[in-house]
Amino acid sequence: MTTTLRTRVAIVGAGPAGLLLSHLLDEAGIDSIVVDLRTRGEIESTIRAGILEQGTVELLDRLGKHSRARTVGHRHDGIELRFQGEGHRIDFPSLTGRSAWLYPQHEVLKDLIAARVAAEQDLRFGITVTAIDDTDPLRPLVIATDADGDELVIEADVVVGADGSRSVVRPTVTGSSQGGYFREYPFAWFGILCEAPPSSEELIYSNSPDGFALISQRSATVQRMYFQCDPELDPDSLSEEQIWVEMQKRVPGTTLLEGPIFQRDVLRFRSFVAHAMRKGRVAIIGDAAHTVPPTGAKGMNLAVADVALLHEALRALLLEGDERLIDSFEERALQRIWKAQHFSWWMTTMLHVTDDASDFDRRRQLGELRSVVESTAGQTYLAEAYTGWPLPSAE
Ligand code: PHB
Repeated sequence: MTTTLRTRVAIVGAGPAGLLLSHLLDEAGIDSIVVDLRTRGEIESTIRAGILEQGTVELLDRLGKHSRARTVGHRHDGIELRFQGEGHRIDFPSLTGRSAWLYPQHEVLKDLIAARVAAEQDLRFGITVTAIDDTDPLRPLVIATDADGDELVIEADVVVGADGSRSVVRPTVTGSSQGGYFREYPFAWFGILCEAPPSSEELIYSNSPDGFALISQRSATVQRMYFQCDPELDPDSLSEEQIWVEMQKRVPGTTLLEGPIFQRDVLRFRSFVAHAMRKGRVAIIGDAAHTVPPTGAKGMNLAVADVALLHEALRALLLEGDERLIDSFEERALQRIWKAQHFSWWMTTMLHVTDDASDFDRRRQLGELRSVVESTAGQTYLAEAYTGWPLPSAE
């Protein structure tokens, strides 16, 4: 049995980008259908990064009472860069007039889903998209199978792939499933969630001779921390005691408050930018179009910035028949994407230690860190990028 549905914008992926896009389109009276392979429960419990740029929080304010970023999340006015056992605070408001928010991605997703459900959005879980058919360039089709194995066809004016790094929409846009600029790093993060009080009020990004560590938080009783590890490391191969020894070694100068570890994972580091973000009436955004290593906390924020641009382009296209913004969408999105790629690469290489680093490399790296923390210009660059460059406007 085949069900055929008709909508203006078919959105593949109910992650932050897809859901926010459907919300902003709805504000403009443009209907959309959002489908996702996963269940609502899986989406709401996926543990991802936790930092929102100020502009991301401001866009989420448009969810009204559904956004809890400012009430449950915490404003962070700075981070600490630590090296040679000493901490150096980067104060965001005095450098940029902006802040960042610690509010985990799965909480953002709960808010977005609640807002879309309240608005009676057509939002379907458990849908496997098998192909995008763009034979008719003005009427692209999403071909999918629902949870019962029945075929679902969505006819739309525009198809948006917001379906993550393993995007099924990407090949339609780029011509191949890889189709992009790519860089892999020789290290990964060992991430934990533990039950403990915070070891620090703000995030600590720590460079040490033993490698990098990030001390982050989730709440008064749950903490998120990471240490640099080999990408091949099996997360279950270390005992809790070994994990704490590794973590603590990398944060000289702070005694970490330890507690039971209830989640552990190894996050690989990749930088990727697709060769194209749009082909005709099919576009890709968020992780489907680009991924960054987590060091600069740009991933979700970059997805939101894509949405900020794309929803305005779609309004112009679908409400006024004006193609100018959709024609320049990719070029404008890529400007921010490559800035964020640079920032994420820079934070990563400045803070991590590689096995093949020479004494020269190690001393140069400390010189680089010192150039940042001892200069207002250096600190300001970091603070501007971290709290987020102004979101693109339509002009
Ligand atoms: C996190 O809390 O998960 C987190 C925070 C900052 C980062 C990366 C991850 O740069």
